[in-house]
Amino acid sequence: MQYIKLSRRGRVGIVTIDRPEALNALNPQVLDELGEAVEEFAADPGVDVLVITGAGEKAFVAGADIKAMRDMTPLEAREFARKGQRVLFALESCPKPVIAAVNGYALGGGCELALACDLRYASERAVFGQPEVKLGVPPGFGGTQRLPRLVGRARAKEMIFTGDNVDARQAEAMGLVNAVFPAEELMERVLEVAERIASRGQLAVRAAKAAINRGTEVDLVAGCDYEAEAFALCFATEDQKEGMSAFIDKRRPQFKGK
Ligand code: CAA
Repeated sequence: MQYIKLSRRGRVGIVTIDRPEALNALNPQVLDELGEAVEEFAADPGVDVLVITGAGEKAFVAGADIKAMRDMTPLEAREFARKGQRVLFALESCPKPVIAAVNGYALGGGCELALACDLRYASERAVFGQPEVKLGVPPGFGGTQRLPRLVGRARAKEMIFTGDNVDARQAEAMGLVNAVFPAEELMERVLEVAERIASRGQLAVRAAKAAINRGTEVDLVAGCDYEAEAFALCFATEDQKEGMSAFIDKRRPQFKGK
């Protein structure tokens, strides 16, 4: 892979988008490699949580690649939007939790990438925005759909219609990010959260992710039906016996993901 670097800390897989000459902008090759990276960590039994970040101090991802898009035909543009959407769906539906460590500009496709992650933590230097209308297009990698679901239609429409950026604190206030950390602490703090998640029962974490993702897209009764099935299925796991036995025995659980 040319533009994506993979590393690990313990059971956390770190995906770094590394294309500094374009502030980590997403061209078709970066999207393909990102898709491969997610697939690789999703299938890796040694990885429980994924963290996605951008290389360098300035950008998480400054958007879809404008130079690659300018001369596209409508059909090529649709295929490009579909490619971006496919990769972001793969992230969202990855059974393992995915965390965005937003270290700088998260604009356009970069903001949309962060939106497809389960959790978002921002450096105090981070800047979020959907500036596409300044380029004569609407968002194309799911921004018109995931942003209103996360922050509400009015705030999403304000960001998308004006193209104005919001800083990390504003993003936190509107629920776009979970928390803001000093720039130099961002990765360490994100890894702490990731490691805490990785220390829990992973089958339960994955069941909860699937229940939240599916359940919040259907009516409450159907969502609760799904939840009850997920809950029941976990009673077939060793982790459930271990987690509850450890509580009763007043010891730390030793989860095995089985
Ligand atoms: N696509 C392609 N190249 C990009 C890029 C992008 N999205 N963002 C930055 N770059 C390139 C610049 O062209 C520049 O390259 P050159 O040195 O070859 O000129 C290099 O990265 C550094 O960028 P700047 O000189 O502009 O850096 P800056 O510090 O002055 O500004 C910035 C930083 C405010 C992020 C500015 O680069 C910017 O506004 N970028 C574009 C942001 C944007 O509009 N994103 C949305 C893209 S559309 C989209 O994403 C559609 C979708 O939903 C799928």
